[in-house]
Amino acid sequence: MGVAQNEEIRHEKTGIVFRPGLEGVPATQSAICDIDGQLGRLSYRGYPLEDLAVHSTFLETTYLLIWGELPSPQQLRDFEEEVQMHRRVSFRVRDMMKCFPASGHPMDALQSSAASLGLFYSRRAIDDPQYIYDAVVRLIAKIPTMVAAFQLIRKGQDPIQPRDDLAYSANFLYMLTEREPDPLAARIFDRCLMLHAEHSLNASTFSARVTASTLTDPYAVVASAVGTLAGPLHGGANEDVLAMLEEIGSPANAAAYLDEAIASKRKVMGFGHREYRVKDPRAVILQSLAEEMFARFGHDDLYDVARALEEAADSRLGPKGIYPNVDFYSGLVYRKLGIPRDLFTPVFAIARVAGWLAHWREQLGANRIFRPSQIYTGRPLRSWVARESRVPAAGA
Ligand code: ACO
Repeated sequence: MGVAQNEEIRHEKTGIVFRPGLEGVPATQSAICDIDGQLGRLSYRGYPLEDLAVHSTFLETTYLLIWGELPSPQQLRDFEEEVQMHRRVSFRVRDMMKCFPASGHPMDALQSSAASLGLFYSRRAIDDPQYIYDAVVRLIAKIPTMVAAFQLIRKGQDPIQPRDDLAYSANFLYMLTEREPDPLAARIFDRCLMLHAEHSLNASTFSARVTASTLTDPYAVVASAVGTLAGPLHGGANEDVLAMLEEIGSPANAAAYLDEAIASKRKVMGFGHREYRVKDPRAVILQSLAEEMFARFGHDDLYDVARALEEAADSRLGPKGIYPNVDFYSGLVYRKLGIPRDLFTPVFAIARVAGWLAHWREQLGANRIFRPSQIYTGRPLRSWVARESRVPAAGA
C-alpha cells in the first residue's frame, strides 16, 4: 500500500484543486445526521445520541433515521410487527449460503446474501412509497438472520429460526448463540446497534448513495455498502482492535507498542477519525457499556490494556487530534456478549443498514446520478505499437 496522501494538490494546467479522500468536500446535502467533530457531538435527526442511547431502541431509532420523525406508539408497534414478520429468509438463500466456503469471511457472506435478496424482490416500483417501506422492513429484518445463519452454517449446523416472542436484538443474540440472552445483555447490544446506526457521509454511506443514485434496487445499495464497510480503515477496524490488544498483552506494554507504531508510521487501530478532533462520542458511550457488561458478567483483562493504550496515546497522538473512535471499545463489548471476532463487522452492518437506507431514501427524494470528474495524469496521446515490436514494460 502506498503512502497516504492527505495534502491538497493544485493541478498546474487547469488550476483545479484536488483533495485526496474528498476531505472537506461536500458531496451531498443531508438532513439525517449532524456531527460536531470539535466538541464531539453527534445527533440523529436533531436528537442527541446520548438521549437516544438512554431512551430509544434500535428499531425506533431506525424509524427516526429513515422517516425523519419519532414514530407514534402505533407506528412503532406496526413497524416492529412488520419487521418481526419478515425475519425469516427463504430456504433458497439459506441453501445458497450452505455453498459458501466455511473459511470465507462473514462480511463476504453477508454481501453476497444481501445482494441475492434483489433476485426475490423486483426493482420496478422504486418510486412507490410502499415498495420503499417493504424494502426497508425486509432489509432491517433479514440482515441479522443472514448473519446468524452463516455463523451456524459454517459450523456445519442448520440455522435456527427467529423466535417471535423475542425483541429484535434479543432474537439476533438467540439465533447466533442458540441461547436466550440475559435481558441486560440484549439491552446493551440494542444500544450498541443504535450507536452504530448512522454517521453521515462515511465511506460505506457514500458508497450506498452513489449506488442509489443509479436508481438500482435497495438490495444492491446495501450490498455495495457492506463491501465498503468491510475494509480495515472503516468498519473492519473493530476486528483488528482486539488482535492489537492481544498483541500488546499487558497494560505495561502499551506505551512501548505506541512508540513503535508511531515510529514505523503504523496506524493504531481504533484511533483517529476524519470528522473528530476529540474522543468519538460513540466511544465514550461504548466504554461505559463495556464497563456495565464487565460489572455484571465479569472483568476482561483486555479492557485494562485498552485503557492503558488510550492513556498512553493521549500525549502521543492527542496533540494531532487522534483519539479513540467507535471501533475502539465496541469489540470488547461484543466479545463479552459471546460474539465471534469476525462477526464484529457484520454486527456493525446490521446497525448501519438503518443509516444506509435513510440515505437511500433521501437520495431518491432529490436524485442526480453521481459522476465526479478526475484529473488525468496519464500519458499524452501516442502512436500504436505493433505486438511484435513490444518489449516487456517495467513494473507491469
Ligand atoms: N494511528 C496513528 N496515526 C494516525 C492514526 C492512527 N490510528 N490515524 C491517523 N493518524 C495520523 C496519520 O499517520 C497522519 O499523520 P501525518 O499527517 O503525520 O502523515 C494523520 O494522522 C492523518 O491521517 P490520515 O490517515 O490522513 O487521516 P484520514 O482522515 O484520511 O483517516 C482514518 C481517518 C482512516 C480513520 C485513520 O485515522 C485510520 O486509519 N485509523 C485507524 C483505522 C480505524 O480505526 N478505522 C476506523 C475508523 S471509524 C469507522 O470507520 C467506523
